[in-house]
Amino acid sequence: MSTVRGQFSSRFGFIMAAAGSAVGLGNVWGFPTQTASNGGAAFVLVCLLLAFLLAYPALMAELIIGRHARANVVTALGSLSTKPLLRFIGQGVGYYGVLIASLILSFYTIVAGWMLSHLGQAISNIVGLEAIAQWLVTDSIARNLSSSVIFAGLTMSIIACGIEGGIEKWSRRLMPLLMILLVLLILYVFTLPGAMQGLKVYLLPDLSQVLNPDLLISALGQAFFSLSLGVGTMLIYGSYVDKNENLPQLGAIVTCVDLAIAFTAGLLIIPAVYVAQHNGTVIFNEAGDLIAGPGLIFQILPSLFSSMGSAGLLVATAFFALMSIAAVTSSISMLEVPVSTAVEKTSLSRLASTLIMGGICLAISSVIIFNFDPLFGFVVDLTTKYSEPLVGIMFCVFAGWVMHRNALLQELKQGNSNIENSLFWKIWPWYVRVVCPLLILATFAQSLS
Ligand code: PFF
Repeated sequence: MSTVRGQFSSRFGFIMAAAGSAVGLGNVWGFPTQTASNGGAAFVLVCLLLAFLLAYPALMAELIIGRHARANVVTALGSLSTKPLLRFIGQGVGYYGVLIASLILSFYTIVAGWMLSHLGQAISNIVGLEAIAQWLVTDSIARNLSSSVIFAGLTMSIIACGIEGGIEKWSRRLMPLLMILLVLLILYVFTLPGAMQGLKVYLLPDLSQVLNPDLLISALGQAFFSLSLGVGTMLIYGSYVDKNENLPQLGAIVTCVDLAIAFTAGLLIIPAVYVAQHNGTVIFNEAGDLIAGPGLIFQILPSLFSSMGSAGLLVATAFFALMSIAAVTSSISMLEVPVSTAVEKTSLSRLASTLIMGGICLAISSVIIFNFDPLFGFVVDLTTKYSEPLVGIMFCVFAGWVMHRNALLQELKQGNSNIENSLFWKIWPWYVRVVCPLLILATFAQSLS
């Protein structure tokens, strides 16, 4: 059993790491298209509201439990009560979280591998290796396996270096780079014909769409996935935060950064899609909606890049570098969940735990690659649609009902001696007990129907 725990060395380091976890592929290929099809700026405002109504209080539940217990997700949930049954349930939920984080990592690695392949293609074309470039973007088991192995290797090599020397160091470097790439790409795309039409579609508010209840509920789900909730990533990151930090403030900053980057990604993606349309690419599906997800990233945008001539190679390099960075800062947070559990629950070293847990996740990725059609969608739905909300409810229940009110107060007081008089303390303890579980349950029930 290892006794020395790592810790983030600075508040900036924690914010970059937690925002890095939250800002992932979902921000870039989900949020912008949803916004463009659902009322533009009005939808952005609704998302902002919902993020603070649902996701932020649930994020706080994870951060507070984590920092209070200063332990992996299994030990943390198992330590909140003295009652054997509650300890047992807590540990069970913790192990389920470890499983879900590992399964999300397994499919995420495959998709992130595609981003790396497209990055490799752009670079190969720049240096004149056309045959390799072609191989990298042709869907095959060999391509998918090798790109997944490389991506998993990157994730493992960061996690093996620990909290400060791995997660924090790389998040501090990669997140600013991601923001710079995003801004440069936006500036370039804005100069192209068609971009302003996309900007109008993205930003013009249409209030009639926003009041649709189905849409509200799916925006709740999006907010939840986007903040990486319900798998223990935020709990484990919270466990590495200094005791003197003001947690409600840190959580609010992370929520805002996630939303701000999702919004900014839309300033790139939607104008770029309309530039592609201007250049002759079909951007709507049969139902008349903007094409989203993989079709957007691997068809529409590459066709735009290739219509740009030699500048297109540089733009493609920057874009797929951005996507790969977004993916790796999320994947490290997922791998940290099983690795921290193995380090603290067994006598394995961090390196051995990383190799074993990362190796298991990679083996699952390989099984999915060999059985893509039946397994990929199943694993995505099992984890993101069903398990994340349920585990998220359990985190809220443990913070609200199992953890003593006094323990919550003491935990928060360390970073803000005046917390008792704050609006947060007046609302959150009741909110996380009743409103959060009910809201998440409503989202969950809607996703089943
Ligand atoms: N928040 C990430 C995204 O928006 O792409 C996805 C994610 C990361 C989900 C980490 C869950 C997780 F544990």
